[in-house]
Amino acid sequence: MGRGSDLCLILVMILNSLMMFCNGGITSEFVRKLDKTIDMPLNSDVFRVPPGYNAPQQVHLTQGDVEGKAVIVSWVTQESKGSNTVLYWKENSTKKLKAHGKSNTYKFYNYTSGHIHHCTIRNLEYHTKYYYVVGLGQTERKFWFYTPPQIGPDVAYTFGLIGDLGQSFDSNITLTHYERNPIKGQTVLFLGDLSYADTYPNHDNTRWDTWGRFVERSTAYQPWIWTTGNHELDFAPKIGETKPFKPFTHRYRTPYRASGSTEPFWYSIKRGPAHIIVLASYSAYGKYTPQYTWLEEEFPKVNRTETPWLIVLMHSPWYNSYDYHYMEGETMRVMYEPWFVKNKVDVVFAGHVHAYERSERVSNIAYNVVNGVCSPVKDQSAPVYITVGDGGNLEGLATKMTEPQPEYSAFREASFGHAIFSIRNRTHAYYGWHRNQDGYSVKGDTMWFYNRIWHPTVDSTSSGS
Ligand SMILES: [Fe+2]
Repeated sequence: MGRGSDLCLILVMILNSLMMFCNGGITSEFVRKLDKTIDMPLNSDVFRVPPGYNAPQQVHLTQGDVEGKAVIVSWVTQESKGSNTVLYWKENSTKKLKAHGKSNTYKFYNYTSGHIHHCTIRNLEYHTKYYYVVGLGQTERKFWFYTPPQIGPDVAYTFGLIGDLGQSFDSNITLTHYERNPIKGQTVLFLGDLSYADTYPNHDNTRWDTWGRFVERSTAYQPWIWTTGNHELDFAPKIGETKPFKPFTHRYRTPYRASGSTEPFWYSIKRGPAHIIVLASYSAYGKYTPQYTWLEEEFPKVNRTETPWLIVLMHSPWYNSYDYHYMEGETMRVMYEPWFVKNKVDVVFAGHVHAYERSERVSNIAYNVVNGVCSPVKDQSAPVYITVGDGGNLEGLATKMTEPQPEYSAFREASFGHAIFSIRNRTHAYYGWHRNQDGYSVKGDTMWFYNRIWHPTVDSTSSGS
């Protein structure tokens, strides 16, 4: 071998090592036990029906307006319709108030639901603890919630992130870890795929009921902001069920009209320092569709002086380096990514892939059919994309990853868990992902987010695990 070929070899080796350095971030080597993920049996304690005649069950809260001064209280009564009224009062106040709701039932194949009640309480005061009672005149049950602080750029607020939860033993561990996390989540941003009832024969809707009872220990005390996933479709033409989202829309409400949306699946809310846009991966989103038109008009309404943090939720991720659901989010990415970069979205949370992944700040918007430029590039105007589809449902973990780890992927790990996004002020937010196998305060992945408007410097270097 001559001197020239030696040099060539050295050059190739250097290039190779650079490639390895450039290619991607961290693929965690955490070793987890891979037991089969199975649903909790129907007689599990977490599914217990509350005692008493016609006792309200499956109690859950969500935000009821854009500004955070309204709450939608929902619950189910099984034996009879019962009262639609919610009694509520401020902590330390003797003045009790009433709000009146409505109830409905639905049929799905051979299943008939209980009476599903929804009641919106309006004109609440910010930053206040309220007690509320449902089941008036029969079996009454009392709960409480806190309203968010007044919308403003420097109020602190902490969101929990849970996706693809289901109702397995692992789901129960995820919810417990969220509840016991020392950084207390005040509202859950739920990333779609709630009950997985559709994995049962004829979409056995009693599994929607069990899920509602399972999560009540959190949903009755703090709002969960709902994103729709593919498991909410419940589209089953073989058994005559052709109306998508039928169980979901009857059971879960969103304040979509308040933000000018025409369907419950895409909408926006403001909460404390955050403007949150919820998108629908399984509703039409192409040009001229209602969702496209709504989103186009929504971005100019975002006021980063009032709400510095712009967060987007969706079910199917755009940047995902697992084999599972690979590129399913691609068509929506092609439609909307230029808007996300132009409007400097801080972070996008998605579910769907049953694992965890955090991206670099990247964009892939240069491609225009003829130029062939179609690789993601580092872009400080782009969001960080985070997949938290690891709630623990019965379908199990997505463990197979595309190799080598792509450059856009900063950290990935196939474990169940949840995340916390803790906004401290207009410039900084602390983010942590918690795997279920660890103690409650242990973080599997962390990052300090710098706001894209108020502190738009490189923040991915501050990440670590
Ligand atoms: Fe999904």
